[in-house]
Amino acid sequence: MGKGFYISKTVGIVGIVLAAGALATITALPVVYSQEKSKNNEVKSTDPTMAPSNEPWDQWRLPQTLSPKIYNITLWPRLQPDPTGLYIFTGLSSVVFRCVEKTNLILIHSNKLNMTKHPTLIGLGGKPAPTIESIVMHTKTQYMAIHLKEELTAGESYELYTEFLGELSDDLGGFYRSEYYENGIKKVVATTQMQATDARKAFPCFDEPAMKAVFHITLNHDPATVALSNGVVIDEVNITVDDTLVTRTTFAPTEVMSTYLLAFIVSDFIFIEQDIENLQIRIFARQEAINAGQGEYALSVTGPILKFFEKYYNVPYPLPKSDQIALPDFNAGAMENWGLITYRETALLYDEEISSNENKERIITVISHELAHQWFGNLVTVRWWNDLWLNEGFATYVEYLGADEAEPDWNIKDLIVLNDVHKVFAIDALASSHPLSSKEEEIQRPEQITEMFDTISYSKGASVLRMLSTFLTEKVFTQGLQTYLDHFKFNNTVYTDLWEHLQKAVDSSGTTLPKTVQEIMGRWILQMGFPVVTINTATGQITQEHFLLDPETEPDRPSEFKYVKKYFEEKNPKNFITKYLLLISIKAQFTRYETEDTTGLTMMMKTGNAYLMFSRLQDSIPVINRAQIIDDAFNLANFQSPLKWSTCLCLEYFIMSTQLSLNYHIISYLQTYVGNQVKNLFDYFTRLTNWEDVPPGHTDQYNQVNALTVACSTGLEACMTLVKTWFQQWMENPNVNPIKANLRSAVYCSAIAAGGEKEWNFAWEMFEKATVASEKDKLRAAMACATEPWLLNRYLKYTLDPEKIRKQDATSTIISIASNVVGQPLAWDFVRANWEYIFNQYGGGSFSFSNLINGVTNRFSTEFELQQVCDLPQDCFIYFFDCHLVQQKLIFECLIYVPVLKTQLIQFRDDYAHIGFGSGTLAIQQSIERTTANIKWVEKNQKAVLEWFKNPS
Ligand SMILES: *[C@@H]1O[C@H](CO)[C@@H](O)[C@H](O)[C@H]1NC(C)=O
Ligand SMILES: *[C@@H]1O[C@H](CO)[C@@H](O)[C@H](O)[C@H]1NC(C)=O
Ligand SMILES: *[C@@H]1O[C@H](CO)[C@@H](O)[C@H](O)[C@H]1NC(C)=O
Ligand SMILES: *[C@@H]1O[C@H](CO)[C@@H](O)[C@H](O)[C@H]1NC(C)=O
Ligand SMILES: [Zn+2]
Repeated sequence: MGKGFYISKTVGIVGIVLAAGALATITALPVVYSQEKSKNNEVKSTDPTMAPSNEPWDQWRLPQTLSPKIYNITLWPRLQPDPTGLYIFTGLSSVVFRCVEKTNLILIHSNKLNMTKHPTLIGLGGKPAPTIESIVMHTKTQYMAIHLKEELTAGESYELYTEFLGELSDDLGGFYRSEYYENGIKKVVATTQMQATDARKAFPCFDEPAMKAVFHITLNHDPATVALSNGVVIDEVNITVDDTLVTRTTFAPTEVMSTYLLAFIVSDFIFIEQDIENLQIRIFARQEAINAGQGEYALSVTGPILKFFEKYYNVPYPLPKSDQIALPDFNAGAMENWGLITYRETALLYDEEISSNENKERIITVISHELAHQWFGNLVTVRWWNDLWLNEGFATYVEYLGADEAEPDWNIKDLIVLNDVHKVFAIDALASSHPLSSKEEEIQRPEQITEMFDTISYSKGASVLRMLSTFLTEKVFTQGLQTYLDHFKFNNTVYTDLWEHLQKAVDSSGTTLPKTVQEIMGRWILQMGFPVVTINTATGQITQEHFLLDPETEPDRPSEFKYVKKYFEEKNPKNFITKYLLLISIKAQFTRYETEDTTGLTMMMKTGNAYLMFSRLQDSIPVINRAQIIDDAFNLANFQSPLKWSTCLCLEYFIMSTQLSLNYHIISYLQTYVGNQVKNLFDYFTRLTNWEDVPPGHTDQYNQVNALTVACSTGLEACMTLVKTWFQQWMENPNVNPIKANLRSAVYCSAIAAGGEKEWNFAWEMFEKATVASEKDKLRAAMACATEPWLLNRYLKYTLDPEKIRKQDATSTIISIASNVVGQPLAWDFVRANWEYIFNQYGGGSFSFSNLINGVTNRFSTEFELQQVCDLPQDCFIYFFDCHLVQQKLIFECLIYVPVLKTQLIQFRDDYAHIGFGSGTLAIQQSIERTTANIKWVEKNQKAVLEWFKNPS
């Protein structure tokens, strides 16, 4: 699956690049802030929902007695409600399976399907099939159990035939419906999201990734609609079924594949296409979107990316066509269904005039990610969901390689460091993190499988694979990868199969590694966390230990990161640092180093050579590692030194890094400071062309956006005037939006924050009217920037009404509101008050659940600090953007601060224990841990920080 909304970067951007005289040479990193998602997937043996008996139908895993070979499925979704108002689909399905081990039980997945006819069984080998004795549906384990009077014979094949009926509901899982309006007319699309365990909601099937088979698919549908599936259309006829005229579309049989990669879609969408060397590439979307040219960008990059992956994997694209479709309702970011990839509209559709460069970057990286899966994941599939990290980590790593091929000028490969490496540090630094690899038997229930789709799987998976590729060299890495894919095509693997092929590639390359690939990688995937390396430049001693956000926490899974190494022979601090930083930059992003006053760097600061020293270092340190240095400094040890660094770096360059979960506690302090720094950059763009021109380079565009975002968020008057003027112009003439596409997120947010009901209502009206999904998303995020509590409360209520805020967007809207200082307590109260409803709407397995919990609790330390920093009375809770900008101060009633919030969190956890928290269960635990860590951090560091801000040196 593509990443869910949690990688959305529109929530906030903090990134600063400063220059005194050297602007032309700035190379900046867009620094992004993403909502974190952290999870733990521990299994408790006392779990009350565990199978109560040893009967096969009480187990979550299928027995190995039967092996499916061929399915023949006909589905007919009704896009009009039945007389009772229900949307339904009907289906017939047969499955040919081989009996591997004799048994008198057929256990097949089936969830929420009503059988409309008694299932039948026939023998294919000439022998008659056993008689069916009884059929029992097991709703908890989602099986249909068919008990037979006699046994099936090992080695023989049988065919099971079923007819059934299911609801085409709007729950975003299995076979579901999506609705939208076009020219005032309501339209309905029938579509699917099978991963991970919802194919069983569309037809009875052996719904495990290793149960691969060939699928013959037929869809009945209204003649005015078009039907799509994994294969190409081989037949299309108009026939009458049950007195209804339908088009029957038959698709070519699929390759041998897993159930979770199937897709069936019926819509009146249209497409644009391109043929590349006999491969048909099509982009489907709503008619209005295609007619407006929104599919063109996706179409133009798909071919080059596919060609890149063919070379990279050394395997031709395995199918005759590649369809990609943008859906109005879609829970994840995208889904790699083989040959028919589904997307959120924002992840596929691009409008030249309206979408920003960030939208474009998201589109190309998501497309690249899904195309990468067409081989890695689809052609070769992990055997079970415990190895999901390999599938998702790999696609997340190579998405940057594919995107770089299509947009070679963007330096897009650098972004993995911000978007994945740093992002996952924030989670992996918690004692409640978890290892990449889980045991197969620990991942059983659907919600446990859903929990695997987390930042550890995607981002840490990508980080360690990138590290592996770098130290093996890309040549050796791809060679091992190629033999792995060739050997296991149309088959399943465990992650060690990849290590074996990489090891073979290493051995045949003639190089020798100090340890085997398996031994090296075991440290990164079997234990959680990552090491911090401390170098004492006085003695040369190097020590390493497990890095924990709160060093006093005790991880319940110990790791073996601790060691003390001999001595680093280099005594000259300058050479030492240059060498060492290069080493870590190239070899392993996961290595860190500590900066204490005894280390070379701070020594240099003290002797006044810092700037000189650093500017020389900069020549040899890649840009991504310069960000890392600052980031490390913020997170480690002595807080005073990083701030000194940043001042010195400001002479040329300053990046405040991304991992705000770790750095969250300092953001409020930084605002004033940053505000002063960013003024220069803001003035620069004003002087340049008064914000009229779009800078040529991708990262330069981010600079411009960041300058405006940060300047306005710190309340810079010139910036506020600018955005208010633009927004005003738009309100006066709603048909002409004068705001540049890249700047819209920032402008909308600032204008709505500074405005009131009038601005908000205007934004809402524009949101409802917008036909470009990325524009809708920008307005939706910006409306969360309002500063009047009643507007935010009303907006929170809208998230419960799918007519106002789509279900797919509800949690991310609540999270946006929570990331606003005024909105945080409102969102927190709202979530607690409506927990039961939210839980039932979105289900315990919804994979945005832990985001929601993390999102609404993430700010808990900020408020605390604000209170401290401004020296306010303990019983008054004040929100404001900046202690020193009194006009922006917003006094708000209540009495909350972190220890109270912590108590509330614990209370919340206990109050709703009976309903549960689904995949968010451990997110609550992690919030409590993070809040505790934040309290400690603030206690320890605030004095030094305050001192420094009074007198920045
Ligand atoms: C699939 O099932 C349909 C309807 O039962 C039948 O007409 C068709 O011949 C079957 N196709 C294959 C390939 O078995
Ligand atoms: C399936 O059967 C159950 C029990 O009879 C019924 O409540 C449900 O509405 C049926 N589902 C559909 C989609 O008709
Ligand atoms: C089926 O009917 C529709 C509408 O009447 C028509 O447009 C279409 O061409 C027909 N398809 C076939 C295969 O006859
Ligand atoms: C799949 O791989 C396994 C070994 O991992 C092998 O035994 C089996 O024969 C393979 N199946 C196919 C269809 O290639
Ligand atoms: Zn994926």
